[in-house]
Amino acid sequence: MSHRVPERLLELIRPAVRAEKPYIVPGTRPVAVKLNQNESPFDLPPSLKRELLEAFFQIDFNRYPSEQPARLIQALESHCGVESGSVLVGNGSNELTYTLGLCFVGDGDAVLTPTPMFALYESMVRLHGGRPIPVQCRPDFQVDTSAILDAIRKEQPKLVILATPNNPTGLAIPKVDIERIIKAAPGFVVIDEAYHEFNPEGAALDLLMRYPNVIILRTLSKAFGLAGLRLGYLVARPDVVAEMMKSRLPFMVDRLAEQVGLLMLRHQDLVHDRVQQIRFNTQTLYDTLVQIRGVDEVLPTDTNFLLFRTARDPGELLNALADRDVLVRNMAGYPQLKGFLRVTSGTPSENKAFLDALTATLR
Ligand SMILES: Cc1ncc(COP(=O)(O)O)c(C=O)c1O
Repeated sequence: MSHRVPERLLELIRPAVRAEKPYIVPGTRPVAVKLNQNESPFDLPPSLKRELLEAFFQIDFNRYPSEQPARLIQALESHCGVESGSVLVGNGSNELTYTLGLCFVGDGDAVLTPTPMFALYESMVRLHGGRPIPVQCRPDFQVDTSAILDAIRKEQPKLVILATPNNPTGLAIPKVDIERIIKAAPGFVVIDEAYHEFNPEGAALDLLMRYPNVIILRTLSKAFGLAGLRLGYLVARPDVVAEMMKSRLPFMVDRLAEQVGLLMLRHQDLVHDRVQQIRFNTQTLYDTLVQIRGVDEVLPTDTNFLLFRTARDPGELLNALADRDVLVRNMAGYPQLKGFLRVTSGTPSENKAFLDALTATLR
């Protein structure tokens, strides 16, 4: 008996969905040194995990969590210094990206994004029937503000989506440029600040105080080291959040994730200390990487990861590194970044393992 579903049934799925590729991290395999997803190399210290055990025993697993967990929201609002009602939390900021799509993107709506940029955004726009307007970055991979301003004038987009610092380029957008874009945009400007803790420019959150058309997206997956828990949040003016509450999915932050988020927000000193370490380790990684024979280019970074290029085919190089137990990411999916690999900065010993494997492979 065949388990195939007849094509006429599959055709009931919206064409926008059928045309899409699923989000899957390519080339993933179990390795000792995992530097392919811009995660923090630091797990929660065992003493804090033990503290959580007590909370764990008090959680009623049979009960739903709150639709939006009030204590976590309050803690995030005070962390950001924003008024009550300004924060929406979700199952990672990726979930909130889809909430943005449900709220703002309808058939044919123009959404402007610099490119290359975190691929999920364009996919979200297409899935909702919108029209992504990609604006090429400059040859040095900086966001091209004048080209964005031109495209805003021409397309009058409902949304402009910026990521600062940007993934995959690693570069922050100067704050004056962000402000020019916000002033020129007829609609909302979404600023993804997944890596803002590493950004020497500082956060763009204060722009929300001055402009009503700003929406900030943040995550606890990077500097806070909670990628496995799935916690992200959105900050906007309360009127906007109140509308977004209508399209958000309920119960997306489970009781355990809420407890861990609260714990980390109480331990800002630890997060701060780790951010300092990661920044230092990333700089050291950069300084060594540029000196390796066979490495043709390393881009500067405002994040916890680096892009680099060699003369070798990046897919082959990735496999050779994985054979030496080190996993990095191939950027071949981004046409502008052909030839580049991306490496997340890990602990000093992980970075050394990567540098040794690369040196040996390029020899
Ligand atoms: C720019 C950017 N935004 C968002 C995310 C994902 O965040 P989360 O884990 O909260 O879904 C990533 C992850 O790599 C990212 O690079």
